Amino acid sequence: MSSSTLNRGFLQTSVGKKSIVAITGALLLGFVVAHMLGNLQIFLGSDQINSYAKTLQDLGGLLWVARIGLLVAFVAHVGMAIKITLENKAARPVAYAVDKVHHATLASRIMPYTGLVILAFVIYHLLHFTLASFNPEYKTLLDEQNRHDVYKMVILGFSNPLSSLFYILAQACLALPIGHLSHGIFSIFQTLGVNHPNIDARIKLASVSVAFIIFAGNSSIPVAVLLGLLK
Ligand code: HEM
Repeated sequence: MSSSTLNRGFLQTSVGKKSIVAITGALLLGFVVAHMLGNLQIFLGSDQINSYAKTLQDLGGLLWVARIGLLVAFVAHVGMAIKITLENKAARPVAYAVDKVHHATLASRIMPYTGLVILAFVIYHLLHFTLASFNPEYKTLLDEQNRHDVYKMVILGFSNPLSSLFYILAQACLALPIGHLSHGIFSIFQTLGVNHPNIDARIKLASVSVAFIIFAGNSSIPVAVLLGLLK
């Protein structure tokens, strides 16, 4: 049997599909943490965040390689997760008479739904800031040094309370204890075989803590704008 047949065979198995979701999930988690650390620089002032954004833009071709890698990971993650969910539903068309899922945590049961809210959020977020589809003037905002004024764009963007509320709700679906990441980070370890009754509780605590830090870090920006702390 050739190795490519073997690989394709592996990807048809439940473990193969879950491994794709786990590995791409780990890559997306890395992006979310790096993106949050980048965004938090807004608290250091407009010069800091605008020069950070310019450094990223100046990466040119490398930035596009990263964007394409991120897109591939995102599509594979969402696509495989939807496939697994639908296959599980098809394998169990009638709901259990006795609710067997009460052993599963709430976060793990609502993974597909929190995932869909995050998908909607990412589409809205790209239209909002990256493509500036709702406010084309965001694209032409320049600071004193003729750089894209990301600081001003984010403050204008979050001055709309409805938009800010949606961001905060999406961060809750992403990262509160019932969120996608709390269970998702734990699942990465389970799927990749890093699990043992002795360490599972510690991995769970670390997953919920990382997820909470991401919730707090990301939400702090729209909250600070709404409270007038960032002007
Ligand atoms: C409140 C928290 C967030 C803020 C303030 C924020 C801010 C931004 C800004 C300003 C940009 C556009 C940069 C530019 O084009 O100049 C951006 C791009 C992006 N954001 Fe966020 N973001 C947040 C949360 C998130 C989260 C949670 C995700 C993913 C789940 C995410 C995914 C992305 C992606 C994929 C891009 C496009 C990157 C690129 O085209 O290079 N963001 N974000």
